[in-house]
Amino acid sequence: VKRVRTHHLRQWKNEGQKWPMLTAYDQYAAQVFDEAGIPVLLVGDSASNNVFGNETSLPVTVDELIPLVRAVTRSAHRALVVADLPFGSYQGSPQQAFDTAVGFMKEANAHAVKLEGGLPMVPQVQLLTDAGIPVMAHIGFTPQSEHNLGGYRVQGRGDAAQRMVDEAVALQDAGAFAVVMEMVPSPVAAEVTKALDIPTIGIGAGPDCDAQVLVWQDMMGLRTGKAPRFVKRYADLHGTMLDAARTYAEDVATGAFPAPEHTFDS
Ligand code: KIV
Ligand code: NA
Repeated sequence: VKRVRTHHLRQWKNEGQKWPMLTAYDQYAAQVFDEAGIPVLLVGDSASNNVFGNETSLPVTVDELIPLVRAVTRSAHRALVVADLPFGSYQGSPQQAFDTAVGFMKEANAHAVKLEGGLPMVPQVQLLTDAGIPVMAHIGFTPQSEHNLGGYRVQGRGDAAQRMVDEAVALQDAGAFAVVMEMVPSPVAAEVTKALDIPTIGIGAGPDCDAQVLVWQDMMGLRTGKAPRFVKRYADLHGTMLDAARTYAEDVATGAFPAPEHTFDS
């Protein structure tokens, strides 16, 4: 299988071919999604609240994410694997972003990195891409800035719409190969998508983005409770796993497991 490259994503945009992205944090998720033909896998800092049990994405560290990225790059043979730079590991300076990104490339074999932010991150994007590291940008609602943005809120309404277009164009000009847009009104996301030569990847950004992304535990129903409006549930893994665990527990208690076919003769 040939590895998906950033130029394929741009080609698909030109051909009007929409594509899916999913998060992945371990071997089996990476293998299954790769087999399903998902062309881009993101080892998100959402591992913070989907792997490590935190409430937000803020606490997760580079040292925690590196082994997850390594597992995914080892397991996905076709997908382009993007490592998300965690909070505090790149905002300080372009040099800091460079050092962090190099760690993900050298120690975990990442194919690209993602970072959150608009105009203030242009120098970071510029330095990384100049150094040969593909960068995916992320604008709109950026979870690492939750406290500055005043919680989970749609971004880019009203006057902020034109600013979002300008921001996206600046990130493209700095060298970004794609832009994630999170919780952006559909018409604004459509305008940004039209203004850019590079693909836009929406999450709560409507149907006109070039691509879509979801956190896999959300879309497969492993996470329970109220999901954001932009999540569509494609499976009930929580229910499936709960049933399996309960049935197993019952079988052990009753002696139904292990049966003769699971045991060894002398
Ligand atoms: O960390 C993450 O999962 C993300 C996607 C939702 C875009 O940044
Ligand atoms: Na993220």
